[in-house]
Amino acid sequence: TGGVITLDPGYKNTGSCESAITFLDGENGVLRYRGYSIEELAEKADFLEVAYLLIFGELPTKEQLDKFDKDIKSHSVVDDDIKKILDAFPKSAHPMGVLSSLTSALTAFYPTSVDVTSEEQMYNSIVRILAKFPVLVAWTLRKKHGLPLDYGDNKLSYVENILKMMFKSPSSDYEQNPILVNALDKLLILHADHEQNCSTSTVRIAGSSHAGLFVSLASGISALWGPLHGGANQAVLEMLEAIKADGGDTKKYMAKAKDKNDPFRLMGFGHRVYKNFDPRAKIIKAAADEVLNDLGIDDPILDIAKGLAKEALEDPYFIDRKLYPNVDFYSGIIYRAMGIPVEMFTVMFALGRLPGWIAQWREMRLRNEPIGRPRQLYIGETLREFKTIEKR
Ligand code: SDX
Repeated sequence: TGGVITLDPGYKNTGSCESAITFLDGENGVLRYRGYSIEELAEKADFLEVAYLLIFGELPTKEQLDKFDKDIKSHSVVDDDIKKILDAFPKSAHPMGVLSSLTSALTAFYPTSVDVTSEEQMYNSIVRILAKFPVLVAWTLRKKHGLPLDYGDNKLSYVENILKMMFKSPSSDYEQNPILVNALDKLLILHADHEQNCSTSTVRIAGSSHAGLFVSLASGISALWGPLHGGANQAVLEMLEAIKADGGDTKKYMAKAKDKNDPFRLMGFGHRVYKNFDPRAKIIKAAADEVLNDLGIDDPILDIAKGLAKEALEDPYFIDRKLYPNVDFYSGIIYRAMGIPVEMFTVMFALGRLPGWIAQWREMRLRNEPIGRPRQLYIGETLREFKTIEKR
């Protein structure tokens, strides 16, 4: 571990890049943000500290963190006209489509975020989006539940305020639950960055044309939506629910996952890079146990998940293909315990990944990277002469 992977100089045109933000060792299940292990950060840091670390490269001093928090809070109001855009969506709209549109729309209301030529302008755009994104997430959820779109309490911590904005109701006093605050803080840290995954590469390549930060993030949200990527956490819960409805028949779904004629895949299993365990899945599995235990919830879905994981980890098909539970396999169980509806699970992934996307976009812009321009291996027709329609 810690070895340096050398890239062919031609990598500049392949969409790959050099980055100093996140280190992954897929063979040994190692994940580090700016050199700090994910295990230590999940245990000892809070999400805003990790966001600062990813974006600016160092763990913040108390003064730096207080200023970061204050600057974010100073931008926590979203132009009320954004609600008119939200109102235009049917309640049935998928939250990821709503969130991507609203994030892109922010550029119209805060145009200075478009062409950031100075570090100060970049900083202002960064604290702006860190402040407004949780509001958009909360409003997306509240719109679905027909609740008023307003704010939480800036006296609370970043993560406490996210939960309050999402769940406070005019009909009852909102009670902070420290178990849920800690669990969400940990989940957001575990999702915060992951090197050049599909959505992060999308953010980098969109930003490489010097499109603004907000629209680059909107493109990342769209890429994350897919069930093979961030959409997997929603697909895992739907799969576990289907197995539960099917009398808990995990063997039937294991057989489907192995049947080459069946497009079904075991959601939450496998990874492009981790060909051993996903260190995040280990931490989330322990957290799921803890949260359900502390809340006194006996969720049969967790038992089904554990049974399925045990079977898969002992099955030659999965062992031979090095398929292990990934970050999405257990996270939905905790979101469910928080009362977050399943169609919002991928939005929670985006909320966690936001600082990573920002850090990667900022690194790409500060390094003055050229516009992303992957090349191809042409496998089409050789030169052909045009035929008039009568001769076709
Ligand atoms: C994320 O890249 C990142 O870092 C992403 C992410 C992040 O933090 O940004 O970690 C977040 O996206 C995690 C992945 C979430 N997606 C899922 O859980 C969806 C289910 N998993 C798969 O669709 C799949 O494993 C992928 C998409 C994750 C990886 O796909 P690959 O690289 O195409 O899989 P592979 O080529 O390594 O597959 C090898 C074999 C194939 O079978 P054979 O052709 O060799 O016979 O394993 C099979 C695949 O069919 N396989 C599966 C499987 N995943 C791979 N078979 C059944 N169930 C699965 N889940």
